[in-house]
Amino acid sequence: MADLYQVSPLSSEQRVPDHAKSSSALHGDPPAAAATTAWADRKELASAAFERTRMPIVITDARQADNPIVLANRAFLDLTGFTSDEVLGRNCRFLQGEGTSPTAVAEIRAAIERQREANVEILNFRKDGSPFWNQLHLSPIKDDEGGLLYYFASQIDVTKHRMIQSLEASEHRLLMEVDHRAKNVLAVVDGIVRLSKADSAPLYAAAVQRRVQALAVAHALLAERGWRDVPLDEIVSRQVAHFASGRTAMTGPEVLIPAVVVQPLALVAHELIVNAATHGALAQDTGRLQVSWQAAGHHGGFYLRWEESGRRKAGSPPGEPGFGTTMVNAIVQKQLQGEILRDWTSDGLKINISIPGTAALSTAKGA
Ligand SMILES: Cc1cc2nc3c(=O)[nH]c(=O)nc-3n(C[C@H](O)[C@H](O)[C@H](O)COP(=O)(O)O)c2cc1C
Repeated sequence: MADLYQVSPLSSEQRVPDHAKSSSALHGDPPAAAATTAWADRKELASAAFERTRMPIVITDARQADNPIVLANRAFLDLTGFTSDEVLGRNCRFLQGEGTSPTAVAEIRAAIERQREANVEILNFRKDGSPFWNQLHLSPIKDDEGGLLYYFASQIDVTKHRMIQSLEASEHRLLMEVDHRAKNVLAVVDGIVRLSKADSAPLYAAAVQRRVQALAVAHALLAERGWRDVPLDEIVSRQVAHFASGRTAMTGPEVLIPAVVVQPLALVAHELIVNAATHGALAQDTGRLQVSWQAAGHHGGFYLRWEESGRRKAGSPPGEPGFGTTMVNAIVQKQLQGEILRDWTSDGLKINISIPGTAALSTAKGA
């Protein structure tokens, strides 16, 4: 018992009201298992257990005004950082602070008013002001007639546990996002494989392969950027570089493209450059490409002008649009809610593309 008195100085007569010194009507909970010899020492052993357990525990006196703490063990003082003098005689609400949920407090208040048990997770603060999540368990201790004498409470610091739970939740969200994005890409690849056309099997294989590679380039860009916004010029220049480096000029301010729009836009740039290099101005040595843009509309919105020039032969609109053109139109108009206008001039193809930005995002996400 000496240890207990050192931590919680109950020897002070002022702190121990007469009615609380002992209550003949209070018999406590019998242990689940007790040998006769231990039962004889049960009071001393109960005190030792109270003091030595690593579980923070307080007992409040329900018969005193405002239910003050009358016993607190070492583990409680260690958890909260307060001394015994600083906790004895006080209501436990001193552990609450800014950010403590009024709903959680109301739940505890209601349980105490009804003399019921309560289990509540509540944000509390140590003496040094640091917060911790307290898994509070409260239960009334009554006399043999059912009169309320004390309240027992244990407090477990579940801060780490909650942190792990929230990490697990964000990991789960991340996995769902990866799953969603993988499905999107697979749907695009499925479309490429089904709809690509070529005169022979090797040409078909090459057409599918270069489109899948274009997706892979966009994927690498997204991975480098941590799946956050990517500047428009990087998306376009990585697709264009392979076909027309040295013959391309790109100008425009920084426009950040939301991650979800990067792969569709990369496919658009890819189809346009392949078309320019095989049928358009860049198919000839004199051909040049100028890509310019400016921000417009919402976040990620822009106007882009694609100007091929230096073509010697007069251009004419192709007859039936191929899969590349169909795909570009579908991505710009349907997926990104934008517009695309083509003008076949004698000098080369000119294209105006406008993308409204975040307005298109929800559609693109659901694509
Ligand atoms: C035995 C006991 C222990 C308590 N321990 C805590 C605690 O660790 N943290 C806390 O925020 N509230 C604790 N409370 C709750 C507050 O003391 C108080 O009852 C609660 O804030 C609701 O009452 P109020 O609205 O008057 O503040 C405890 C209550 C009792 C009876």
